[in-house]
Amino acid sequence: MIEDTKKEFDVLYSSSTCVWGLQADRYLAQHLDKVKRGVALDVGCGEGRHSLFLAQQGFKVDAVDISEKAVEKLTKYAEEYGVKEFITGKVGDIRSIKLGKDYDLVILSFVFPFLNRRDILTVLEKVSHSLKRGGCIYVSALTTDDVEYKMYSQNQTPLELRTYYSKGLKCACYFFEEGELKTLFSDFNIIDYTETVVELPREPYTHAMCLVFAQKVAP
Ligand SMILES: C[S@@+](CC[C@H](N)C(=O)[O-])C[C@H]1O[C@@H](n2cnc3c(N)ncnc32)[C@H](O)[C@@H]1O
Repeated sequence: MIEDTKKEFDVLYSSSTCVWGLQADRYLAQHLDKVKRGVALDVGCGEGRHSLFLAQQGFKVDAVDISEKAVEKLTKYAEEYGVKEFITGKVGDIRSIKLGKDYDLVILSFVFPFLNRRDILTVLEKVSHSLKRGGCIYVSALTTDDVEYKMYSQNQTPLELRTYYSKGLKCACYFFEEGELKTLFSDFNIIDYTETVVELPREPYTHAMCLVFAQKVAP
């Protein structure tokens, strides 16, 4: 399934326009003063709106995406923004890629909607491990209030609990129920947890999302 998903994202990113825009999420920007400037990991970086922002804010960034086209576009934008030397783009699947340790910040913006729950838990454990003590993590994901959840649940049998098959992106999509994402960070100091409606440039409708910004406290 992942090879098909990768192809779909490659096609999406082959357009000359920027699919998700170049503006970083305001929730990330809002809490960045709590993070020590150092090295950040942008998982499922897409065209790099967050990597570019973090590089401009003084971070060195490791950016990973399964789509080669995404990483190509990120590299092009990094050149245009004059931050190329601060960003290392890599093509890879977050579920299998080996990560370094000692990140000051890990972000997973709108990546969990393309994984199933088992993979989400594995990825969370893996990235938590790669975070420094005192480092922060930012995650955004879709909730069961989302319009896509409503469409899928009316027309499909779930693959697993709150998981539906996206024909467009050829992958399993997981939707969090109210408060669920927060519970995955019970070992962290939760700086902010929000459930809200978010606009994305290419989408015809707003998305119901849950967002967490948390600090690792355990060693
Ligand atoms: C909706 S886009 C979000 C892009 C970016 N994080 C943002 O907020 O603009 C989801 C991204 O996750 C990437 N992705 C999906 N599954 C992945 C996986 N298993 N490993 C790495 N990247 C993945 C896709 O290629 C895509 O670029």
